[in-house]
Amino acid sequence: MVLTPIHHSFAPHVNISYIIRTLMIILAPWKWRRGKSQTKLESELSKKFNADCFLFSSGRESLCALLRAMKLQNGEEVIVQSYTCVAVPNAIHAAGGVPVYADIDRETLNLTPEDCEAKITNHTRAIICQHTFGIPSDTKALREICDRHNIVLIEDCAHIMPDESGPESVCTRGDFIFFSFGRDKAISGITGGAILSRNNYTSLQLRAERARAEQLSYFTILRLLSYPFIYFIARPFYGLFFGKALLFSLKKIGWMVPILTDKEKEGDQSPIPCHLPNACAYLALTQLKKLKKLNDHRRKLTKVYLDQYSNTRIFPSQITTDLPLQKFPLFIHNADEIRSKLKQKNIHLSDGWTGCVVCPEGIDLDPTNYTPGSDPMAEAACEKIMSLPTHPSMSRKQAKKLIKVLMAQVLAGS
Ligand SMILES: Cc1ncc(COP(=O)(O)O)c(C=O)c1O
Repeated sequence: MVLTPIHHSFAPHVNISYIIRTLMIILAPWKWRRGKSQTKLESELSKKFNADCFLFSSGRESLCALLRAMKLQNGEEVIVQSYTCVAVPNAIHAAGGVPVYADIDRETLNLTPEDCEAKITNHTRAIICQHTFGIPSDTKALREICDRHNIVLIEDCAHIMPDESGPESVCTRGDFIFFSFGRDKAISGITGGAILSRNNYTSLQLRAERARAEQLSYFTILRLLSYPFIYFIARPFYGLFFGKALLFSLKKIGWMVPILTDKEKEGDQSPIPCHLPNACAYLALTQLKKLKKLNDHRRKLTKVYLDQYSNTRIFPSQITTDLPLQKFPLFIHNADEIRSKLKQKNIHLSDGWTGCVVCPEGIDLDPTNYTPGSDPMAEAACEKIMSLPTHPSMSRKQAKKLIKVLMAQVLAGS
């Protein structure tokens, strides 16, 4: 049993400095909805990625706003990869489009350009290329395909935000890019998202989308801002009764803002976006300022895992030490069984990206448009996936401990 939990989702960005920042903004409720941080974050991202920036209260709303700004006609198709988050097909549906799935490559967990091209029809408007867990998609090949067919390339950067050390192929070739500032993303504002647009006409339409956005209620913002404190208190005690009981009770009474609502799990997303609260923009902005440090930490842990497994073929071969991975995926037999055993040791590796092609497991697959059996590679991969944390509150010592415990489990099962 490890004393401090090893995890993916117990407020991975939250440390003392995050707590102090949250406290500062909580004490200034007049700045929760609107303020200078929104404008500052927009202008920083705009400068950094050489594009017009529009903030919304999540990545999925940003994507939906973009597709609406592109005036997607009912029934027009958007190609996405199998092995994605349900938020992506939901946003396409909410904008009136149809998600069409292309196969993934086991060595990147990203779109296969050849299958992507094969899926293009007269109704295709865009390809969304996802840089899964921070592994760069083949944007060069996808850019060429998009140019050949006169369609748009959207980069889904929910899992990565490049810094001055790269990766160079991410955020450089898309017509549009979107980010998520969710709780476990590259930078976190607890919630949030941004669209970066390199098309003047669509930027104009995005302005209209932003103008019709609604405000989150003060009550919702308060619940969001309480999240770092709740996890900061509960996390060290998670292996004991107190931590688990606290989180369980707060979820039960509906205090915690869910990452996916029940409606979203059934495929239903509202087409009306919300503004990113200034309070969340403030938190995301402070993280953006230390992006290089956050990414270097992820690179360091990526290297620890890579050094351990480099002589094997149990991970996507396109992973390199210079990547700031959001998590490090391994392919392991009996992954589910091992995860349950690790739980008893206070190691929590369930992250919602296992056992399902459109994640998380347990959502209603019908509305997603994914046909079971259509991408056997994705289906096989997600059965075996076991991802290892690289987030800011995971230490190198914990990573080494995790490798050891995991090895013991794998050997015990073989
Ligand atoms: C690949 C991917 N795209 C888009 C999203 C949507 O981001 P958000 O949760 O901010 O709506 C997610 C969310 O986890 C994601 O994993």
